[in-house]
Amino acid sequence: MTKIDVLLGLQWGDEGKGKIVDVLTPAYDVVARFQGGPNAGHTLEFNGMKHVLHIIPSGIFHQDKLNLIGNGVLIEPRIFRQEIEGIAEKGVDATKNLFVSKKAHLILPTHRMMDAANEQAKGNSKIGSTLKGIGPAYTDKIARNGIRVGDTLASDFRERYELLKVQHLRMAQTLGFDVAAFRIDGMTLDEYENVWMESLETLKRFRFVNSEYFINQCLREDKKVLAEGAQAMMLDIDFGTYPFVTSSNTITAGVCTGLGVAPTAIGKVMGITKAYCTRVGAGPFPTELFDETGRRLCELGHEYGATTGRPRRCGWIDLPALRYACMINGVTELYVTKPDVMNDFDTVCMCTSYEIEGRRTDEIPFEYNTVQIDPVLTSFEGWKQELQGITEYGKLPEKLQRYLAAIEEQTGVRIAAVSISPDRKDVLFK
Ligand code: IMP
Repeated sequence: MTKIDVLLGLQWGDEGKGKIVDVLTPAYDVVARFQGGPNAGHTLEFNGMKHVLHIIPSGIFHQDKLNLIGNGVLIEPRIFRQEIEGIAEKGVDATKNLFVSKKAHLILPTHRMMDAANEQAKGNSKIGSTLKGIGPAYTDKIARNGIRVGDTLASDFRERYELLKVQHLRMAQTLGFDVAAFRIDGMTLDEYENVWMESLETLKRFRFVNSEYFINQCLREDKKVLAEGAQAMMLDIDFGTYPFVTSSNTITAGVCTGLGVAPTAIGKVMGITKAYCTRVGAGPFPTELFDETGRRLCELGHEYGATTGRPRRCGWIDLPALRYACMINGVTELYVTKPDVMNDFDTVCMCTSYEIEGRRTDEIPFEYNTVQIDPVLTSFEGWKQELQGITEYGKLPEKLQRYLAAIEEQTGVRIAAVSISPDRKDVLFK
């Protein structure tokens, strides 16, 4: 029996996971998503075209690969349909190689409404959710009220749907939320519900599977399986910067619960980090830059959310957070993305530890959200060189190689590859 390899983001998301999965996919037979939902936006660029995937695994553009949406994922049928139509326009018929777990939970229109209602009720302490209904749908899953993909085939599906919807409407009323004024993509709740129900029919054209058997069978047949993480380590519900997190386990352990594989079946753990750091939405970010350098990272790195279009907050790479991510996830190799964004920088910095109330620490404190954290920075001379056209890791500028070596030394994990442009071809393996 072969093992399942894992690929995940080690920061606050948007590390370029979609692109790295896409590059690695030729070596795999199956790509599986294990958590998250349409809050994710995995951007792939090839042949001069850009594709953003939200729920569908990034292996979908390789037609000979199987793709699985696991039990830990949330599906919003209308967003799913839009994605299916989007890739169909690019000539991909996903019905052939995309499988959906019967146990994956559905995001109802009223989950999306509840996301907006909860955020509104939080006022100034809002999370900055993508408002795709993630928190409320996972809440219903844990509270044992959720509706799963397989339930859509049951005769009492509509009844269960209505029951849950009524509950949500009552909760919204309690929160003083104006349901009549609420819109999703310009549609009222009733209008959106019609589109949502129609979209369920698209979802039903796909093969619903008992995904835990499906994936274990693949491993038994020695198929190579890649688990594709969404969001990232620092947004994990347990170990992220709670409550400014998403509502799922984004870490390696989430692969076990989100696909039904045993911990002993985990193989390589590939962690993705940008050469700097970004965060979208609210919450602590010790290395955030509020100056011209931060603005340059945002502009040069095109740091705008793939799902929401919001500008991302930018700062230096944060090694205490990265070491924490390597520890929690058992990262076996690192992939570093976007050093090219800093090609023109005179100086590039990395945060090697934190100073909190005059005390140095290498750990992520429990009080991450409430104390003042000053990053202790080490500076490196910028490499001041275009990277485009470089085709080998060893030919990268020496100063950049020194910067990368420092990341390896600080984390104790070797770098497997560096990505120097959005294009598939520009991933240089070491
Ligand atoms: P939610 O998961 O949509 O409720 O959002 C919770 C927090 O996670 C917010 O700060 C979002 O900006 C952030 N978030 C959720 N999904 C992603 C992602 O795929 N990339 C980056 N940030 C995300």
